[in-house]
Parts: sequence; C-alpha cells; structure tokens
Amino acid sequence: MTTPPFTGDEAAPAWLPDEATLSRLAGEFFRALPGQSPESGTPAHDGLSGWPSPAGLPAADPPPPAPTAGTSLPSGPPPTSAPAAYAAGAPGGAGPAPELRALPARPVTPGPPPVASPVTPPAASLAAPAAPAAPARPSDTGPYYFLTEAPGYPAKAPELPGFGHLGLPPLFVPAAPAATTSPYYFVQEPDAGDTAGAPAGLPIDRHPAFDVRAVRRDFPILSELVNGRPLIWLDNAATTQKPRAVMDRLVEFYSRENSNIHRAAHELAARATDAYEGARNTVARFVGAGSAEEIVFVRGTTEAINLVAKAWGPRHIRAGDEIVVSHLEHHANIVPWQMLAEQTGAVIKVIPVDDDGQLLLDEYAALLSDRTRLVAVTQMSNALGTVVPVEQVIEIGHRAGARVLIDAAQSVPHLPIDVTALDADFLVFSGHKLFGPTGIGVLYAKREVLEDMPPWEGGGNMITDVTFERSSYQPPPGRFEAGTGNIADAVGLAAAIDYVERIGLPNIAAYEHTLLEHATEGLRGVPGLRLVGTARHKASIASFVLDGYEPAEVGTELNKEGIAVRSGHHCAQPILRRYGLEATVRPSFAFYNTHEEVDTLVAVVHRLAERRGRRR
Ligand code: ALA
Repeated sequence: MTTPPFTGDEAAPAWLPDEATLSRLAGEFFRALPGQSPESGTPAHDGLSGWPSPAGLPAADPPPPAPTAGTSLPSGPPPTSAPAAYAAGAPGGAGPAPELRALPARPVTPGPPPVASPVTPPAASLAAPAAPAAPARPSDTGPYYFLTEAPGYPAKAPELPGFGHLGLPPLFVPAAPAATTSPYYFVQEPDAGDTAGAPAGLPIDRHPAFDVRAVRRDFPILSELVNGRPLIWLDNAATTQKPRAVMDRLVEFYSRENSNIHRAAHELAARATDAYEGARNTVARFVGAGSAEEIVFVRGTTEAINLVAKAWGPRHIRAGDEIVVSHLEHHANIVPWQMLAEQTGAVIKVIPVDDDGQLLLDEYAALLSDRTRLVAVTQMSNALGTVVPVEQVIEIGHRAGARVLIDAAQSVPHLPIDVTALDADFLVFSGHKLFGPTGIGVLYAKREVLEDMPPWEGGGNMITDVTFERSSYQPPPGRFEAGTGNIADAVGLAAAIDYVERIGLPNIAAYEHTLLEHATEGLRGVPGLRLVGTARHKASIASFVLDGYEPAEVGTELNKEGIAVRSGHHCAQPILRRYGLEATVRPSFAFYNTHEEVDTLVAVVHRLAERRGRRR
C-alpha cells in the first residue's frame, strides 16, 4: 500500500463537520455512556487516523448485546467435560466437578467519573493541528476482533459444569492445536483438507484475511490521546499493548478462579491449577516443544537467562571454557554470562557483525573450539531489527559440541518459532512483548537439559520432601518454580498467544514487513537521517539518528505529536558502539500499527530536519 506522505498541512477533509458540531456531538455521546458525569472525560478517537468516521460512510460494527445478569466475562475455548485434579493430596482426581453456578448479577453502582487523560497542548507543533476529538465509535466498545465472526471466544460465559469450563487439557500433556471448524473473522475457514482455491502446491492459508482496523478495535489503549493527538504506539520493542482478550482473561481469572495452585483440594485450587497448567500447554504448543514439562514460567527473558546461567552454568562451565555471544546482544544476554565467567574463570567470545548489522557466520564458525560450552544469541536484535539465522547458528554450535540458547524476546511477536525444528537447547522470551502481561516469561529447555540442572531458588512447592538434614526436588519444571508464581499472568499470556495464533504469525509477519518497508523508504528520504541497522533480513525496527539532534530530543518532539518511540541505548550498548553511537531513535512496529501512522512519524521527522536547517 502506498499512502501519500502526511505533511500536516492538509486541510481537513470536506466531510468533516465543523469543530463546534463535533465537540457538541462528542459531549452528547460521552454523557450518554453509562456512569458518565456531564463534565467527565475526554472522548475517544477512533484510534486510526485521528479523524472521526465520516458521515455517510457505512456504519461501524453494531455494539455487542448488553450482558445479561448472571453471566460473566468472555471465557476461553469451549468447555471440556474432563476436569483434571492437581490438588496435592487428591489422589485419583478430584471426583466429579461440582456444578458451576452462574455468577450472581452484580448491582450496578455508578463508578467514579473517568479521569481524563492529561492533555498538554502541543508546543511548537510539527504536524497538523490536533484533530478535534471525535465521539467514541460504537464498535470501540464492541466485541473482540474474532467475536463478531467466530465463536472462538463466546460473547458471554456459557453455563458450564465444573472448572473444566476453560476446556484446558490435562497437566503436562501438550494440547492439540485448537480444532475449530468455525469461520474466523471475515472468511469462511475451509474444511480440513480442503485445498480448493489454494495456489497449486501451497497449503491453504487457514487464517482470516488481515484487517488492521478490526484488529485495532481490540486494543483499547490505541484510542488514547496523548498531547491532544491520537496515540501512535511505536515502542513495541520495549513492550506491546494488550488486547481486551488478555485483559478480560485476567479479570475472569481473578473473578472466578483465583487460588494458589498445586496445593489444595478445593475447587478454586483446581480451577487455578487447570488454568496455569493449561497456559503451560499453550506455550509448549506455541513454541513447538515436545512437552509442557519443557516449559518453565519465569518473570521474563532476563530471569530466564539468569536461571540458565545460575543453574546450568556452574555445572557445565569450568575455567577456560568458552561462552559465545554475538555483538547484537541485549545486556540481558551478556551480563549473566559475564557473571558466570567471573565465577568460573570461563572466557566470553563475541561473534562480529558487518556494517549492516548481520552476523558474520564464517567468523562465528572460526571462533568455536572444543572448549566452547555455550552459544547464546538473539534471534532478532532489539536495537537494529536484524533477524539472525538461528537455524545455522544452532547447527554450527552443535557441531562444536556446544549447547545453544536463543533469546527470542524480540522475535516471538513477529516470527513463527519451532524449538523442535530448530533443535534449540534453550529458548527464552517475555510475555509482555507478545501482547501479554508484564512479569511473566518463558524458559524452554530440552527435557534432558532441564533434568540435568539443579534448582536455582529453593522453597515452596519445588520440593518432594524436606527434612532439616536434606531436601529432594521436583522434576522439571516444578523444580525451577519456587514460591507462588505469577499464576494470573501466565494465564493472561496464554490468552495473548491464543489471540496471536488466531490472527496468524504468517499474516502478522507479512503485514509488518510492509510497515517496515514503508517506514524505511520514508525515513531514507529525510535529509541528515542515518538508518542504523540495514540487514537484509530485518523485522519491525527502524533505528536511526538525525543530524543535529540528540536521539532524546527527537523522542521528545515525537512525543509532542503523540508518537511513542524509544530513544537511548536500548540496553544494547555494545552494538550501538559498533556504529560509533551511544543512542538511537527506535520506532518499532506491531501488527496494529498503520501505514498512516508511519506517514505521520516520517512527516514529523522531516519537519525536524527542516527546522534543523533554520536553527543553524
Ligand atoms: N528490551 C526492551 C527494549 O528493547 C526493554 O526496549
């Protein structure tokens, strides 16, 4: 798609009502929302262009039916009737699950007036005058992207027997891919085996056609205003925004399932354990693990790498052994290895990159020796966007007899991953970069590798027996999950994975590729702008520096226009210094970004470049 660049000078489209009319309509609409006081709130924009839906265009989707009393939030996949028993001390299972009653209707109490987003008038605005705020579109409060079309997530919780209402498979058994014959969004899903319409020799794409406008309605935060402008979230490499499916799943967990897990014979313990272990199954399936026992829940990528360094490291690394990382690494994939090297006397070696930010594979192969015990590399650079050929990295590392750890923190929201096909020994990622909650992440490791690792933290349920003389430990993954974990957010992560899988990573990757190409082309045209990271295989990151500006200044100016990017060292100082830099500006894209947003980014950077000329 090519869109003319947004210059900010365009007149408002002819179909726009005047500002006073819009303001009156917005006020009327907002006051009509339940619980709104006459004065409260900043009306939402449509989260797309900043302009209201033009009169005369087809109406947006109708609002969802009002929830009926006694129903709950949308829940997960359809029910199964086989609740599993995980309660410690409940041998033989929990017995027939008790009837799950519909929740009583909650009295509707008027909430506090909503707090309007702080709106600072943009100083020395670089883009167009702020668009008048538009009334929230009915569809902004409508059903999920998928709900309108498919019964994947029921619009209201069905009345279901027992805690099996989540339809989660039993503990440690990888779930089969979600089997559904129902249509996804937009398109009728073909029957299994139906290849009619598929190009000869290619499997049919079983995902719905991608519609960014529909997707955006699932992300409430994208309707925020920042400095009077529609938020343009281009800081996805730092963290991603969350779809309502994830938020609702968290609310449902705390509303109906919350309990500690693996510890009690009561109903909620079983529900929570089901949900948590179901999330482990979802993650296992998502990354292609052979078993859910190979999935350890941790706080995030950093904790996962530290776990490996502290539990696997001292058992396998001796003085003089070598740990190989690449020049692209995030600090989280450098510092734990340095700590391990200091502790053991091991040596760190670094795979160099070329001027475009591509790993030099020949030099990598030449670095390896019979002392190389571990290779730890990113699959996608968080500073440059380089996609690393990890298949080759793993194969070459294995030939030297080393274990290989893949940091998938950046790649997991953009590229399909299959740890079994890759033959990765370890793979780590964070939930919050995958549209899931913060504070939850994943360590995948091969079963035999985990079994050979001692625990790194002690306490709680990671034991099989404790006396004052000695303790014995659970098999993996329980051995590595001391204390009460982040149960709810693991469940939220599974909801995020379900969401992403329904859109389809191939769809996501293809769409994001067009965004990155559009951004690269636009930014290349800005005088004095230098793109940092020009690898042939890149994903979703367009780091740059702009002549005459500190990266932080660019970040501040973009923020005035509602555009969020990261500017700084991105916790990857060695790779920036490879290019003589201490910081860059880093727009990073996700599947809910639009080409129009990219145009706005480019227009603002263009204006900064022009202003630089006047400043001199
Ligand atoms: N690692 C995250 C980033 O790249 C925080 O911004």
